[in-house]
Amino acid sequence: MNDDLQVAIVTGAARGIGLAIAQRLTADGFRVVLTDVDGEEVAKQAEALPGAIGLQHDVRDAAAGRAVVEHVLAQFGRIDVLVNNAGTNIHAHPTVEVTEEDFNLVIDVNLKGTFLTTQAVLPTLQKGGGRIVNMSSILGLKPVANVATYCASKYAVTGLTQSWAAELAQYDITANSVHPGIVATALHDRVVEGVSALTKMSTDDAWAEFQRSIPLQRFQTVEDVAAVVAFLVSPAAKDITGSEFKIDGGMGVA
Ligand SMILES: NC(=O)c1ccc[n+]([C@@H]2O[C@H](COP(=O)([O-])OP(=O)(O)OC[C@H]3O[C@@H](n4cnc5c(N)ncnc54)[C@H](O)[C@@H]3O)[C@@H](O)[C@H]2O)c1
Repeated sequence: MNDDLQVAIVTGAARGIGLAIAQRLTADGFRVVLTDVDGEEVAKQAEALPGAIGLQHDVRDAAAGRAVVEHVLAQFGRIDVLVNNAGTNIHAHPTVEVTEEDFNLVIDVNLKGTFLTTQAVLPTLQKGGGRIVNMSSILGLKPVANVATYCASKYAVTGLTQSWAAELAQYDITANSVHPGIVATALHDRVVEGVSALTKMSTDDAWAEFQRSIPLQRFQTVEDVAAVVAFLVSPAAKDITGSEFKIDGGMGVA
């Protein structure tokens, strides 16, 4: 199939922020390719979105990224947008307690996964221009204690984005990063569990403590993040590249 709809690939789209981005871009008229390491769930979610498809894809696997691109080009003939959203974290730990296995997991998914997926898509985007949006975090701009590995991975995503903005402008490709604060998803549940274990606070108290740390005193939603991504891939953002978009209720300036 080769039609006029722009095609957007969203990684880590089986749930949480990635799914909300896929839903929003579908509503905005994109044909969305949802990918996720959880192939069963992503296929189920894609079925509910008009024109969308869901593909199993572990972003740590370069060959899997290339297979996604081949599949999308064979089916739709184009790729216009890549949203590198897939990400993971580990429980909050002092650095001396972080295992090498956990370190590798976070760096492999968040940093290497973003790199490899972009590398797979670039030969297509370089032919006709496009948009790359990378999911960093407020922790990719502002550090906090006991999540050094996650912070490092998200600072690295910020760095990749800046570098790609400089490298890819000649192809009319923009690259921007998005920096959510605290969004109530499965990922943040794990953060709360970790903080609760570390501080002996109940998880309810840990949630309340997180809320107090946000200047606007409220958590961000998956839709808040999706709205910024939707703007960044819209015609209105054609000249925005190398920029960092915080959706953090003011955490970055607290
Ligand atoms: N929730 C927050 O508060 C928050 C804040 C800042 C940034 N983020 C970032 O937003 C992104 C989405 O997070 P979320 O909160 O929706 O998390 P989530 O855990 O709800 O969803 C993450 C998705 O990524 C998928 N995934 C994990 N490893 C993968 C891999 N190797 N290959 C492909 N897919 C993989 C998971 O299966 C899952 O569907 C992440 O990059 C995360 O770091 C989240």
